[in-house]
Amino acid sequence: MPVTDKRRADPQLQAVRFLLDGEIVSLTDIDPTRTVLQYLREDLRRTGTKEGCAEGDCGACTVVLAEPDQSGQGLRLRAINSCIQFLPTLHGKQLLTVESLVAADGTLHPVQRALLDCHASQCGFCTPGFVMSLFALYKSQPDATRRDIDVALAGNLCRCTGYRPIVDAANTMYSYAAASETDGDWTHRAGGSAGDQERVICRKLVELADDSTLSLTSGDKRYFAPRDINTLAELVENHPDACILAGGTDVGLWVSKQLRELPTLIYTGDVADLQTVTTDDACLDIGAGVTINDAVPHLLEHYPEYEELFLRFASPPIRNAGTLGGNIANGSPIGDSMPALITLGTRLELRKGKTTRELPLDEFYLAYQETALQPGEFVTRIKIPLPESGREVRSYKISKRFDQDISAVCGAFSVELDGSRVRDIRIAYGGLAATPKRALECEQALLAHDWNEASVQAAMAMLDRDYAPIGDMRASDEYRRKVGKNLLYKFYLETSGTSDVASVYEYAR
Ligand SMILES: Cc1cc2nc3c(=O)[nH]c(=O)nc-3n(C[C@H](O)[C@H](O)[C@H](O)COP(=O)(O)OP(=O)(O)OC[C@H]3O[C@@H](n4cnc5c(N)ncnc54)[C@H](O)[C@@H]3O)c2cc1C
Ligand code: FES
Ligand code: FES
Repeated sequence: MPVTDKRRADPQLQAVRFLLDGEIVSLTDIDPTRTVLQYLREDLRRTGTKEGCAEGDCGACTVVLAEPDQSGQGLRLRAINSCIQFLPTLHGKQLLTVESLVAADGTLHPVQRALLDCHASQCGFCTPGFVMSLFALYKSQPDATRRDIDVALAGNLCRCTGYRPIVDAANTMYSYAAASETDGDWTHRAGGSAGDQERVICRKLVELADDSTLSLTSGDKRYFAPRDINTLAELVENHPDACILAGGTDVGLWVSKQLRELPTLIYTGDVADLQTVTTDDACLDIGAGVTINDAVPHLLEHYPEYEELFLRFASPPIRNAGTLGGNIANGSPIGDSMPALITLGTRLELRKGKTTRELPLDEFYLAYQETALQPGEFVTRIKIPLPESGREVRSYKISKRFDQDISAVCGAFSVELDGSRVRDIRIAYGGLAATPKRALECEQALLAHDWNEASVQAAMAMLDRDYAPIGDMRASDEYRRKVGKNLLYKFYLETSGTSDVASVYEYAR
C-alpha cells in the first residue's frame, strides 16, 4: 500500500521505493513474492500489461526497468518479464509500462505509432509486450539491424498477426522519432528534452538508493535486500534455510507455477560486490550477481565460439534478469552455461560467514538438485580461465526451437592437440544425466590418441558408459544418446578440417 516517505533514519529500510510515471511509490506490508504483474493488474488496475503464460515464455507481461548507468548521468533500460519478477526487487528502479509511453495529450510513442500504422496488431493481447521490447530496443540501439530486431523480439510470441508487420514496425519506428517535435521520446510525457528528463529521473533514482539493507516483514514472510557482501554473508549464515534470490527466472516460477511458499528471501541483486567483472592475466572473474546479458560480452571477448549458445539462452528479458550465478547454483541438468564452463576449467568462489573457499565447477554438482553448497554458504564469483593457445572449444545446444527453449542436450568440448595427438581433452554434457557432468570415460578414450575418425568413433561408444539418459517430453533417451554422440562427432569434424557434410549424414542414418 502506498505510504508517505518517512524512513531516512532507519538503517534497515522498511519500504520498497521505486519510480512510476516519474513519481516515487513507497510500499510497505507487501507479500515479498507478489509479482510486479500482480501489482500492476490487481492493485493498480493498470491492465495494459498482460498475463499469458506466467512463466517467462510468451512476453505478454514485458515491462522495462530503468536504472542509472555507470556514469550516473544517463539511464540503462532493461526489458524484463513482470510475471516472474517479485515486487520488492523494484526498489531503487524506475518501472515503465505500456501506459508510461503515451504522452499526457494522448500522443502515442513512435513505437506504438509504428505498430499501429504497420497493422502489427490484431487481437492485441501480445501487443503491449511487443511495445515494451521494441521500446527497450529503440532506446538502447538507434541503429538496430534486422538481426538486432529478431534478437530483441525472441521473447515475444504473437499468435494471430504474424511477425512480418511487427518487424516492419520495428524497422520504421525510428523514422517517427525523427519526425516528432518532442524528440519522439517517452520522456515527453513529463515535458522538457529527453536529456533533461533522463537527468531528473537519474537524480531521483540516486536519491532512492542508499547503503541500507531493505528489510520487509509480511505475516511470517521475510525479505532482505542487502547492498554489500559482508551483510549478505551474515544474513545467509543467520538464515540457512532462506531462499537466495538473484534474477528470479528460476525462483519466480516456483511461486507462479508451483505455488510454493518461500518464507525467507535474500535478494542478491543490490549487492554491488557481486555485480563486478574483472580480468587478470589468467582469469575472467565474474560476480555471481552479473546478469547473463552483462556477463556474455566479457565471455565472448575471450571465447567467441559461444556466441550462438548464449544467443539461444532463453530470451533478452530472461537474460536481462537471470544471472550466471543463478544458472550455476540452480544446477539444472539442462542448464546451458555449465557444460561449457566445466570444459573451460571454471572454478567457483564460495563464501560462508567470513570464510571463502574455491571449488572446481565439475565438483560442485553432487546429485540431482544437490550441490556442494553448505547451509549458510553462497556463490560469490565465477572464475573462468582465459584461452590457451592451440585449444579448440565449442558448445552446441539442441532444442526443439532456436529461440527461447530449454536444451534437450547441450554438449561442450575443449581439446588441445600436440601435432595429431590429443594432449588434453575435456567433454561435458547437459541433458544426459541428473547433473551437468563430464564424460570421463570418453575423455580417457581420446587422451594421448590420434585425433582421427577411428579414435573419435571409439570414444563416441564410450559415452554409453558415461551416461544413462532418461526420456521426457523434450527428448527420448535414445535420441539423447544418439545426439550426444553426434555432437562429439560434429566437434571432431569442425576441429580436424574434415567437415565432410556427407559423412555426417551417413553417420546420422
Ligand atoms: C522462459 C525461460 C527460459 C529459460 N531458458 C533457459 C535456457 O535457455 N538455458 C538455461 O540454462 N536456463 C534457462 N532458463 C532458466 C534460468 O533463466 C537460468 O537458470 C538463470 O540463469 C537463473 O538465474 P537467476 O539469477 O534468475 O536465478 P534465480 O532464479 O534467482 O535462482 C536460481 C537458483 O540459484 C540460487 N542462487 C542464485 N544465486 C545464488 C548465489 N549467489 N549463491 C547461491 N545460490 C544462488 C537460488 O537460490 C535458486 O536456487 C530459462 C528460464 C525461463 C523462465
Ligand atoms: S506472462 Fe508470459 S512471459 Fe510473463
Ligand atoms: S495480435 Fe493477437 S496474439 Fe498477437
